[in-house]
Amino acid sequence: MKRLFCLLLAILLLTGCASKSVEPEPEFVLTYAENQPEGHPTVLAAQRFAELVKEHTEGRVIIQIKHSAEFGSESEVLDQMAFGGIDFARVSLAELSDEIPKLNVLQLPFLYSDADHMWRILDGEIGEEFLTVFSEAGLVGLSWYDAGARCFYTDVKPISSPEDMEGLTVRVQDSQLVMDMVKLLGATPVTFPYGDVSYAFEMGKIDAAENNWPAYQMLEHYKLARYFTVDEHSRVPEIQLASSRTWDKLPEEYRQIIARCARESALYQRQLWKEQESRSRKEALEAGCVEVIPWIPQQEAFRALAEPLYEQYCGDYMDLIQQIRNG
Ligand code: GCU
Repeated sequence: MKRLFCLLLAILLLTGCASKSVEPEPEFVLTYAENQPEGHPTVLAAQRFAELVKEHTEGRVIIQIKHSAEFGSESEVLDQMAFGGIDFARVSLAELSDEIPKLNVLQLPFLYSDADHMWRILDGEIGEEFLTVFSEAGLVGLSWYDAGARCFYTDVKPISSPEDMEGLTVRVQDSQLVMDMVKLLGATPVTFPYGDVSYAFEMGKIDAAENNWPAYQMLEHYKLARYFTVDEHSRVPEIQLASSRTWDKLPEEYRQIIARCARESALYQRQLWKEQESRSRKEALEAGCVEVIPWIPQQEAFRALAEPLYEQYCGDYMDLIQQIRNG
């Protein structure tokens, strides 16, 4: 009995040591910031990205994902990335467009006819070229993520035409372009970090907000703003980024692996996004939210109102915009 026990103990110790020797010491342990909650498509895809990087570097590069804005709001995260305080993040382009004005081109209101149109552009030459502009802000663009179409929602009344927006206070992202778009509707834009939108509704600081179905449902905005207007005024692409400070420290071999894994995770995110978009819409409607579908002529009226923003924000890129529109 005693001998059997010693034998078992020896086997346990040996296998324990063997499995330890398989896991190499990581050379890099890096951080990744996400402001969406657990289970959101961008978080699941970030987790897939980290797994792929770990697998392809045989455990030498570990990426630790922090979701739910644990590292701060998107603008705080971007500030930290500029000096390498955070290594990776996924953010909405809106948060970067005041710093890199060319990015306004990709998020102009009513630019794309639908999601496929946006993906033809981002997957093509234009999207590839845009991945290089982030260096201006000390960042490396890795891959595009989907964020669907943004729509207005409020608890005040059903919004079925641009005139219904008049006089409302609307939470927007920290972007001059979006603020001006809201002003064109006769509404007042105010900025709050994404994580504070519910609080802003509860405190009566805002009457409306604008976002996609997953944000509306997963952050429970539908409980505070029943009327969701399917006006789809913009598609704001999202970007997976690395801090240039971090990137410069990584050997070329790891950079290539990371860049490949980011693109692979983006394809996964796109598939998850589609599923989540319809699931969130269904759940919000079942929970009592009211979907307001504006008449097409009214959407046309909104589109016409927003048109001057093209020249105002992207006057130097009108040829590029035409190319996107034709794409
Ligand atoms: C989207 C996007 C977030 C962003 C949010 C916002 O949901 O995915 O990253 O913070 O819009 O409106 O601020």
